[in-house]
Amino acid sequence: MAKKAKIKSAKGKLGVLLPGMGSVATTFIAGVIAVRKGISQPIGSYTQMGRIRLGKRTDARSPKIKEFVPLTNLNDIVFGGWDVYKDNVYKAAVHAKVLDKSLLDQVKDELKLIKPMKAVFDKNYVKRLDGTHVKKAKTKMDLAKALMEDIKKFKKTNGCSRLVMVWCGSTEIYIEEAACHKNIKALEKGMRENDENIPPSMLYAYAAIKMGVPYANGAPNLSADVPALVQLAKKNGVPIGGKDFKTGQTLMKTILTPGFKARSLGINGWFSTNILGNRDGAVLDDPDNFKTKEVSKLGVIEQILKPKENPELYGNIYHKVRINYYPPRGDNKEGWDNIDITGWLGYPMQIKVDFLCRDSILAAPIVLDLALLLDLASRSNLSGIQEWLGFFFKSPQTKKGLPPQHDLFKQLMKINNTLRYLKGEELITHLGMDYYY
Ligand SMILES: NC(=O)c1ccc[n+]([C@@H]2O[C@H](COP(=O)([O-])OP(=O)(O)OC[C@H]3O[C@@H](n4cnc5c(N)ncnc54)[C@H](O)[C@@H]3O)[C@@H](O)[C@H]2O)c1
Repeated sequence: MAKKAKIKSAKGKLGVLLPGMGSVATTFIAGVIAVRKGISQPIGSYTQMGRIRLGKRTDARSPKIKEFVPLTNLNDIVFGGWDVYKDNVYKAAVHAKVLDKSLLDQVKDELKLIKPMKAVFDKNYVKRLDGTHVKKAKTKMDLAKALMEDIKKFKKTNGCSRLVMVWCGSTEIYIEEAACHKNIKALEKGMRENDENIPPSMLYAYAAIKMGVPYANGAPNLSADVPALVQLAKKNGVPIGGKDFKTGQTLMKTILTPGFKARSLGINGWFSTNILGNRDGAVLDDPDNFKTKEVSKLGVIEQILKPKENPELYGNIYHKVRINYYPPRGDNKEGWDNIDITGWLGYPMQIKVDFLCRDSILAAPIVLDLALLLDLASRSNLSGIQEWLGFFFKSPQTKKGLPPQHDLFKQLMKINNTLRYLKGEELITHLGMDYYY
């Protein structure tokens, strides 16, 4: 048996801090409380519902993930966060219209008690929002310090032994890596000088990492995906992960594409369009904010298909992604895909996917899994970018120079093997060598 990692106990309360308490965050919080009360099941959650095979197939050992690794019990989670609107979580959840009022009313008392702290927000980065529940300070460094104060106070007031932070805020405008992101010193100088390349999400990430709080980014914003914050995470022994929750259309893409590739089917074109009507859709209706999302969505197919290695199959692929804001649909997005594929001797075929999904219903279990697994990572002394959590992201953060892995099945193998490794179980490669003997 392999060597077991030393994992600290999950005893005590875990505070889950959420910058952005909109549709995803409120659906996550209300859902966890409903599960705690035995009203609902945590469907879609890898840690709560998923199982992991251990040992040989004949051993018949497949415990649930939550029974295999020491995760925080759902009863020990405390919720907190920030938003530019001051509505409590009950009011925000009713406004989001994701969950039925009848369900929300069963958890109303708990939700009403959770009120967002004042946000660090700047309209220049999210043009379609106008919230007023916002902190004021002279410099970005002062704002980050105010966030650190919030974190400290939250931990003390709620008697938490550990914290994690998961960004559930809006998608910010597209920003490329700049000089102020190069190292910790440059970033801190930029924060003192209000460098425009430092958006609010980066200040939350800085504050979290500075305070030793693991950080995951559920949006495609740069946030912690810059050398300065990766260095800080390594230096402070903090695990981080990102970017952009893998839900809806991109989830389907990373399920289907590995299948076409595995059977050497060609692809000429993939046209994806979406209609959605929630606040996220309104924010993404601005071209600068959409650009951030577009970059995150476009990389997926190319990385899996590797057109340069397979020019006969994928050399001419045309990939287009569109998001259209359409208020009548609210959070109930519809994503259409038209895929032009080719088979034997180049004969063309078409596949149409029409996914009538619920965005936040798909994202909420990911918030839970990330919070629990980042906390596990921290208790296992893992730090820096946690590539094994790429399973949950559209645009997995990797070490500089390494291509991300998008194939959902390879990502699953990686996350399962990481957990086996932490527990000192044999890694499973699915290589049945008995054919040879
Ligand atoms: N729902 C999904 O399936 C999904 C999938 C992938 C990524 N995401 C991303 O997750 C994020 C949240 O999605 P949502 O549907 O909950 O959106 P939402 O608009 O309902 O919620 C976002 C909230 O963040 C708040 N906010 C914005 N900037 C902030 C700041 N600087 N500090 C604090 N709060 C801030 C907004 O006021 C809003 O309440 C978005 O960036 C979205 O692109 C969502």
